[in-house]
Amino acid sequence: MTSQAPLYLDGAATSPPAEAVLEAMAAADRLAWANPSSLHGFGLVAAESLERSRQRISTVLGCGSEELVFCSGGTEAAHLAILGLAAALPPGRLLLSSVEHPAVEAAAASLRNLHWEVVTLPVDRFGRVRLEVLESLLVPPTRLVSVIWGQNEVGTVQPIEAIGRLCRREDVFFHTDAVQMIGHRPLRFSELPVDLLSCTAHKIQGPRGIGALLVRQGVPLKPLLMGGGQEGGRRAGTESVALAAGFATALELSAQRLDQHRGHDPMRPRRDDLQQALLDLPGVTLSGCPDQRLPHHLSLIVRTSSGQPLSGRRLVSELWRQGLAVSSGSACSAGRDQGSRVLRAMGYGEAEAAAGLRISLGPWLDDHNLSQLPHRLTEALKRAIASLST
Ligand SMILES: Cc1ncc(COP(=O)(O)O)c(C=O)c1O
Repeated sequence: MTSQAPLYLDGAATSPPAEAVLEAMAAADRLAWANPSSLHGFGLVAAESLERSRQRISTVLGCGSEELVFCSGGTEAAHLAILGLAAALPPGRLLLSSVEHPAVEAAAASLRNLHWEVVTLPVDRFGRVRLEVLESLLVPPTRLVSVIWGQNEVGTVQPIEAIGRLCRREDVFFHTDAVQMIGHRPLRFSELPVDLLSCTAHKIQGPRGIGALLVRQGVPLKPLLMGGGQEGGRRAGTESVALAAGFATALELSAQRLDQHRGHDPMRPRRDDLQQALLDLPGVTLSGCPDQRLPHHLSLIVRTSSGQPLSGRRLVSELWRQGLAVSSGSACSAGRDQGSRVLRAMGYGEAEAAAGLRISLGPWLDDHNLSQLPHRLTEALKRAIASLST
């Protein structure tokens, strides 16, 4: 293990909570701990805090506060979007990309049991949805399209506006999983041709366990969780006032950063420097789209000098030995490296699909960390390649 302090470079998995987020949550838990549905004064304080958080989040995301449904995170938001909308419609066809997060895939798969047809859209080598195929399938019985905005493994950003316009033209509902996108670019739900948008707090230094589904007014939706009728009858269960305050604070912090950098994520130039340095190493190539990518995200495929793809999981372990916390895209089942479903959908072979490496940056890294990063990571990767090649 290295003597240097470890660096967390896995913000796309989750991110360390910002100090202001922890403070906002502690304050809410101290002052507004009551059930926001209670009618007494304690409850009213909690309800007021919850509604203030809802308003703050809606302001940043450019939606009406009545369009925001709090839930437990991105997984639940995607389930509510897909299954909640489907429950309100007659069976039809759902189109989704072949590079969705497993949460969306799982929700879509369970629609099959409800007599929906589920069709997976192909992507190109860069992970971009083939729009001509999507367009050709926007005919009855297609009722819903779900496409991830910023892909979590390879960072590819999909042309959400173009897809949404096509859906609008054909009267098809459109859901996007914006979990990796919020906080990294300015976003106004009211101006997007999107009916349902899923997001979560923990990728932007907010708390784990809270997210939201934005539901355009008039879009039919049945609740998945029933009981107390919270969230306008769309998601039952006592809301977490403290998590909502943490989410609102995290989102405002990211909006302030975007404002200070004329709408750009300040991590982008840092990521670009790092990318340049790493791609100069022999055997290192980029995966995902070179120009349409999440600004804080870098995804690579690493090969030995003889061209053999190196297991991403083994690289992650090697890099951690050198104090660098990164991620691989592949899943491990019963000890066998299965390779990334996303990379396979993009046309990579089995060995390459197990060779994905993801590095994702964020504001918890200070200037000193960030300026050292290209040197530290290239040296660490060189050592990791050397040790895994023997
Ligand atoms: C693109 C994407 N969608 C959905 C999710 C699930 O979000 P959560 O962990 O908040 O349930 C994640 C988190 O890994 C993600 O990256």
